[in-house]
Amino acid sequence: MPAEVYLDNASTSFPKPESVYQAAEKFMRYGGASPGRGSYPKAQESERILIKLRSKLSQLLGVRDPANLIFTTHATDALNLALKGYLKEGDHVVTTDLEHNAVLRPLTHLRTTRNIGLTIVKSNSQGKVDPDDIKKAVTPKTRLVACVHASNVLGTIQPIQEISRTARALGIPLLVDGSQTAGAIPINVEELGADLFAFTGHKSLLGLTGTGGLFVRSDLDLQPLREGGNGSHSNSLEQPTERPERYESGTPNMIGLVGLLAGIEYLLETGIDKIRTHELELNRALMNRLADISGVKIYGPEAQLKTAITSFTLGSLDPAEVGQMLGKKFGVCVRTGIHCAPLTPQSTIRLSLGWANTREDIDKACQAVSEIATAIYRRA
Ligand SMILES: Cc1ncc(COP(=O)(O)O)c(C=O)c1O
Repeated sequence: MPAEVYLDNASTSFPKPESVYQAAEKFMRYGGASPGRGSYPKAQESERILIKLRSKLSQLLGVRDPANLIFTTHATDALNLALKGYLKEGDHVVTTDLEHNAVLRPLTHLRTTRNIGLTIVKSNSQGKVDPDDIKKAVTPKTRLVACVHASNVLGTIQPIQEISRTARALGIPLLVDGSQTAGAIPINVEELGADLFAFTGHKSLLGLTGTGGLFVRSDLDLQPLREGGNGSHSNSLEQPTERPERYESGTPNMIGLVGLLAGIEYLLETGIDKIRTHELELNRALMNRLADISGVKIYGPEAQLKTAITSFTLGSLDPAEVGQMLGKKFGVCVRTGIHCAPLTPQSTIRLSLGWANTREDIDKACQAVSEIATAIYRRA
């Protein structure tokens, strides 16, 4: 079996920077205390780690007040908090056909439980949503626009600033699902015009699984998904009203968050621009090489207009079959299917690049696809 080539970074990034493993191990062995609940040095150190993480993440995402960043267990949890915490009986939501199940399933649930009205705007063949279509879908009952920042199927980056301008002009808040963009492209959440911005820690932010979060604009009040202890106002039976405590009950995933802090420090030191340029160059090379292979059809826009994803099909072969061959015979790890985006019209083979990929990885992957293509034509 050849050495593994990992091209499934849009699912979760791998490997992580060495500092992420070291920080998590150090915390497990020598730290380990719960933050905000003890007066001894280790507990205070855990508290300091969370304060530092909130501050560095605010720096990375362009959030002015770190208290507006709420930690969750992943983007799915953040999106559930945004949707279930904000929407009320009979509200109407405009969303898109590019959304992940992390948005569409809570909305479908809310349709039944809170009688939410839903309009799903269609993207074009390149996976891009037209802000005018969002505007046309708004009704007097619309209370939220929910749009993914970049599709996890095609990678297409959406015109979020224009969508935000449209929504703001109508007085409607905008929820952005930044699962595929946080850490992947430079972002300033407040300049972007997102009122709510959900992200996950284990993809391009280079942290560990079980981490994520939600930016909530200061004047937007969400109902918490859960109440409980967090070390503050312990003598009160009521949930604290201030942020972030209002939304962060229960002992946090400290190991994951320590890893996330190390991932974010790596990004701040290296520069997201630099990593973006590296991934862009590799993705361009990948697209060019794949396009030369007989039977390959690439979906979505040119590399500059998307995150480092290339989705393709190979002749009439079932993408799942191609994915299995790539994994088993060539050690190339990819994802196939509709990628948890249920309104995606086309099942594809998705190669998604990360900070650690090299030209050699691209060569090996393309060689593997080429060999599979040749084998099929021999078979036919
Ligand atoms: C666009 C998008 N939204 C939401 C999610 C859910 O992220 P998580 O599994 O970290 O909750 C993903 C993960 O693949 C995604 O790509």
